[in-house]
Amino acid sequence: MLQVDYGSKPFQGHNTPFYYYDMDLLQRTLHSAAEASRRYGIKIHYAMKANSEQRILEAVATAGFGVDSVSGNEILEACRCGFDPSGIFFAGVGKTDSEIDIALSKGIGAFNCESVEELEIIAGRAAAHGLVAPVQIRVNPGVDAHTHKYVTTGLAENKFGVASVDFERAAAFVKGAPSLRFVGLQFHVGSQILDVEEVFRDECYRAAELVDFFEERGLRVSSIDMGGGLGVDYEDPDENPVPDFETWFRTIDRYLPRRIDQEVHVEPGRALVAQCGSLISRVVYVKKGVGRNFLILDGGMNNLIRPALYGAYHKIENLTAHYVREDEEKSCVYDVVGPICESADVFATGRQLRRSLRGDLVAIRSAGAYGSVMSSAYNMRGFAGAVFSDQTV
Ligand SMILES: Cc1ncc(COP(=O)(O)O)c(C=O)c1O
Repeated sequence: MLQVDYGSKPFQGHNTPFYYYDMDLLQRTLHSAAEASRRYGIKIHYAMKANSEQRILEAVATAGFGVDSVSGNEILEACRCGFDPSGIFFAGVGKTDSEIDIALSKGIGAFNCESVEELEIIAGRAAAHGLVAPVQIRVNPGVDAHTHKYVTTGLAENKFGVASVDFERAAAFVKGAPSLRFVGLQFHVGSQILDVEEVFRDECYRAAELVDFFEERGLRVSSIDMGGGLGVDYEDPDENPVPDFETWFRTIDRYLPRRIDQEVHVEPGRALVAQCGSLISRVVYVKKGVGRNFLILDGGMNNLIRPALYGAYHKIENLTAHYVREDEEKSCVYDVVGPICESADVFATGRQLRRSLRGDLVAIRSAGAYGSVMSSAYNMRGFAGAVFSDQTV
């Protein structure tokens, strides 16, 4: 069960569906990450694409982390929520001219550049403004993250990063561009990585080779950004509410050679915010189908698309089923679905849950990352609001 005291009438007065954020768990997670960061001298930039709620951004900024942003709007929001511009990295394969100008005007820490074509445009815009743009080259490391194909990004066929055939061209261009200041290299192999030691060790080996490659071409690598990707326990969020930052950072520390003048950065998104968030939804109907029972919720794939998009697993629990009479069945197997007119609007099939009734509240757990940020208004259904544990009435 969600380790939160909802009282006897949980969330009365809140319109469902909504995202519920356990701010105490967020603080514990940030604290654990910050401790490991200090221990190993590895700097954290929160990948704010995972969740850009203002309260969450403010908490992360207060923890002293930087930000990994992927749009001009994310840069502006990060600045508004208290992040120092010098700690903002700007990634993404499709930076537009106006987004590049926003980043230049804010004085961000580095552009994470994904192609030679992009380097050329950034150099041109920086020169036009009489500025020098700090750049990291995102290098496609060709490492298998052992994860879902939609969240693998480090393989040669992905759209992300500069491919190996372009390394020479990228190095030569940056060296010869007076409006660019080379800062370092950035890597990211994928998301929801659970084989932490194996995958990040391979990433470190490859990163070390590529640092040598670029330094041999006269570019001093002062920053090595190892990306994000640390996975979380979707199966049992109560057993593992705080991800294992220690193993991640220890692996990088052990396998990535670095000089005293080189900084190492990481960009976790999911690991910092997934477990603190749940999508709370109400049972609209308990429908008897042919050979199955459907639990039809008022929240759907428009609120949380991960199960429909990736077949992702989320733990689901009925928060109010203890109101069921003593003499009734205590549990039942359900297909848990949303109200959207799409067959893919399914959160879980054949899931054993406490026996549920119309009006019950259901929590879809571990939804703090890539949940609300990926919402849509499909079917003209509203967006789910946010409720924070320290504000619950
Ligand atoms: C470049 C980059 N950095 C960091 C992240 C954050 O990944 P995660 O949420 O798995 O930590 C992503 C995710 O897509 C990414 O593409």
